[in-house]
Amino acid sequence: MKDRTTDLHIAVDIALQGPHQRVTLCQARRGVRFWLKRVERFAPHLWLVKGKPEQAFERDRSSHQFLLKYGAPVPRILAEGKGYIAVEHAGASLTRLSKDKSVTMAGKLMACRAAGQALARLHGMGLAHGRPAFRDMCWDGRQIRFIDFEYFVATKAGRLRKARDLSIAILSALSQGSTGPRFAYNVLSAYYAAWDRNPKALPVPCPVQVQNGQPRF
Ligand SMILES: Nc1ncnc2c1ncn2[C@@H]1O[C@H](COP(=O)(O)OP(=O)(O)O)[C@@H](O)[C@H]1O
Ligand SMILES: [Mg+2]
Repeated sequence: MKDRTTDLHIAVDIALQGPHQRVTLCQARRGVRFWLKRVERFAPHLWLVKGKPEQAFERDRSSHQFLLKYGAPVPRILAEGKGYIAVEHAGASLTRLSKDKSVTMAGKLMACRAAGQALARLHGMGLAHGRPAFRDMCWDGRQIRFIDFEYFVATKAGRLRKARDLSIAILSALSQGSTGPRFAYNVLSAYYAAWDRNPKALPVPCPVQVQNGQPRF
């Protein structure tokens, strides 16, 4: 276990010394794959349009930590430090999967149904992702996990934010070429089936408490 941790930290250090890339897929010597995510670098005049990169990064990191603690389907954070996080590889994004010719249509539709169910479960927990496009949902052959939480807000999500999430997922499915409508249908039907089948099994959203002016779960 200790060897594995050391191995991972060596791989993180090597990647950090390499050219600055905001998101990179890395591999430790023992084969563990992870994504190194770093603060974006762009010219200060773009801050006006995109906001401060450090703030965007910290929002993503703290939301990711929150979702992990909350038991939401997100990949583990394997290591972190100033300006970076190393995140477990969660499989292919649905964008990549839907273009992959080696994956059968049945396999792609299964992933789309899992995405609909995962979104319903997240919403059942009283949370919304913020922008669950196909590129931010990953499939490893067993489960869907969400990534990229720049638009996540840690307050109880109402009907509007959930509807917005679902619309984004469906729009993203529809944009995946000629099979887009089939993907969209499978995401949507699995989403509603998850609610209809067992709505009581989904966690009941708890009322939001306010502490120091900040909403808390
Ligand atoms: N943990 C992960 N598992 C699988 N793929 C990932 C992971 N993290 C990032 N990626 C891939 O990298 C892409 C960009 O990462 P993301 O966190 O979404 O950053 P961005 O803010 O650039 O959208 C994703 O769309 C996905 O393809
Ligand atoms: Mg993204």
